[in-house]
Amino acid sequence: MDRNAARDFFRNVVIMAPMATGGNLPYRRLCRQFGAVRTCSEMVMAHKLVKGGERPLIRHHESETDFGVQLAGKREEIMAEAAVIAVEHGAKFIDLNFGCPIDLIVRYGSGAAMLKRPARLAAIVSAVRSVVDVPLSVKIRLGFSNDKINCVKIAGLVEDAGADAVTVHGRTRAQRYRSSARWEPIDEVARAVNIPVIGNGDLLTIWDLRRRRSETAVSSFLVARGALIKPWIFKELADDVPWDPNPAERWTVLRWYVDFGREHFGDDEKGLGRVRRFFLWHWDFWHRHRPLTEEQFLQQHPESLIQARVDDVEGGGDLALFASKDPADHEVIWRRVLDRDYPTG
Ligand SMILES: Cc1cc2nc3c(=O)[nH]c(=O)nc-3n(C[C@H](O)[C@H](O)[C@H](O)COP(=O)(O)O)c2cc1C
Repeated sequence: MDRNAARDFFRNVVIMAPMATGGNLPYRRLCRQFGAVRTCSEMVMAHKLVKGGERPLIRHHESETDFGVQLAGKREEIMAEAAVIAVEHGAKFIDLNFGCPIDLIVRYGSGAAMLKRPARLAAIVSAVRSVVDVPLSVKIRLGFSNDKINCVKIAGLVEDAGADAVTVHGRTRAQRYRSSARWEPIDEVARAVNIPVIGNGDLLTIWDLRRRRSETAVSSFLVARGALIKPWIFKELADDVPWDPNPAERWTVLRWYVDFGREHFGDDEKGLGRVRRFFLWHWDFWHRHRPLTEEQFLQQHPESLIQARVDDVEGGGDLALFASKDPADHEVIWRRVLDRDYPTG
């Protein structure tokens, strides 16, 4: 593949982020319905993949035309072998995870731990580059900790090693999710390298996207929690118009997820049990949705909204039920979706 075409693959796009659990196949399919063209697997451990494990994680739905597989690991040859397996199984792009902050992963020397070993990180990118031709992106954070911000340096090495894009999450490993993402360093990276830079962190609304587009040199974006809270965010961002689904539309979206889940996991007792577990897991995000006006957005920083647990919806009814954080209410919703016990008009 021509490297310019591979870079173009990552230009001017809004990508659905790799998300463990949250980026399960039925959920990606749901987001695809709302316009998420580039979708990505959950993080796949390269050493497990080469031993024959992790296979369910690299599966994708036929509607996912631009599906990528994200790999984490610390050894060049294993990462390269895993990338080949992913491509053989239909991955249209490969993403390398050098940003994962989870203790277990970092202690093992993978994920964000690699930010402390730039030469090793670059060697992994080169090794993967030499065996796969598909577009290759690399996901990093600003640095390991506040006194070790090195994203500009790492992005340069990654470009030299043959990556077609670099995704920068605007936090350090030490920050994990605390405090807002910082976009100035992401902008610095975008101005320093020639490959597309994909900005990531706290994109929840069309106003966030407008702001990042106008204030930075970044033109591609990655959305994670925004997509978990509202799978229709891709439609909003593409249309540049907020969408506030009414209760009947919300029920329909839930129904789609359950249908996709049953198709994927199976319609028997075991399959349905898995769909239910995922459905209830997603409520930790779904219940946080609060439609905003631009005025409200300007008054309140959205980062506080992403953490907010909204249970004081005006007007009661189904919207209040959707905003509930009570697991018992989530069970009620699950039953009502299964029984199709909801308004459709
Ligand atoms: C539930 C969940 C799972 C995640 N799993 C992964 C993962 O497997 N790989 C990865 O690179 N990042 C993962 N992330 C991080 C996101 O991709 C993203 O970098 C981060 O959430 C910041 O983006 P946001 O502000 O849009 O949420 C995960 C985030 C969430 C909320």
